[in-house]
Amino acid sequence: MKSLSDFRRSLLAWYDRSARSLPWRRTCDPYRIWVSEIMLQQTRVAAVLPYYERFLERFPDVESLAEASEPEVLAAWSGLGYYSRARNMLKAARQIVERCGFPRDYESIRALAGVGDYTAAAIASIAFGLPHAVLDGNVLRVLSRIANDAGDISSALTKRRLGEIANLFLDNQRPGDFNQALMELGATICVPGQPLCGECPLKRHCEAHRAGVEKKRPVKAARGATRKVPLTLLVIEHEGKILLYQRQHPPMRGFWELPESLQVPLAQRGGVSRRFRHSIMNQNYEVTVERATLARAPKGMRWLNPSDLAALPLTTMSRKALRLLR
Ligand code: ADE
Repeated sequence: MKSLSDFRRSLLAWYDRSARSLPWRRTCDPYRIWVSEIMLQQTRVAAVLPYYERFLERFPDVESLAEASEPEVLAAWSGLGYYSRARNMLKAARQIVERCGFPRDYESIRALAGVGDYTAAAIASIAFGLPHAVLDGNVLRVLSRIANDAGDISSALTKRRLGEIANLFLDNQRPGDFNQALMELGATICVPGQPLCGECPLKRHCEAHRAGVEKKRPVKAARGATRKVPLTLLVIEHEGKILLYQRQHPPMRGFWELPESLQVPLAQRGGVSRRFRHSIMNQNYEVTVERATLARAPKGMRWLNPSDLAALPLTTMSRKALRLLR
């Protein structure tokens, strides 16, 4: 990984050059963006396009949708599948009209019927420019390759780790475009199986490509199989303090951890290192813990006094790592 700003610039320049022109990318109307994101759940862009146009002709705004009957909405959805999406949309449209307008913050968007973490992040970032990273199947695959993460992609721990990385990488100036660019990259270039690395704007930043293992990422473990997952944690000290970050998402929200190497691409590495093993569920982490230096804390990380650590919730893996190197 080179610098994060170079990563963001390369991705967004590629998106500006090559993004498909899709109808929901030509509007700022949160209603239209919401409709697109619900339709795009588990459904390919090509399948959504004709439904999207027709649905919006039939229900051009949230009021017209709220006034419709369930059979009318189901008729407009007919053929698109996963019909609970249509029923939830009708419920949500009535919620929106009742509260006098489309919600404008993440938590209220997330509270709408049929909107989960992923869809809330997509709507918040695309319609309102709020800094929430999207994590769908495409984005998880792209990030597992960028980070060369060998964890099982269906495990909550791996998703959590990649989610932290997504939030760290996110461009706060253009979060909606950044999210859509990662989805677009996953849909068109960083595809499953045989990615088109020759055309990828991020290949200089991709750890899996560098190691020649991009076709082996993401890892899909057989059910119940245990996996060896290599991981590098950094102990970065500055003026007697240690760099840590706090988990923003479950599991273990609020716990502090040492950063992984990829989270601090500007750290100067090559200091003393030690190794240990740590198992969580069916993942056997082979952890390398390494000393490094860095002048400034990246976004979302803090310098903490070693004497304060005892009073903070620290993950067991980070506790073990600190015991070895301090
Ligand atoms: N999948 C879900 N949301 C999307 C979007 N906004 N653009 C492309 N693919 C998507």
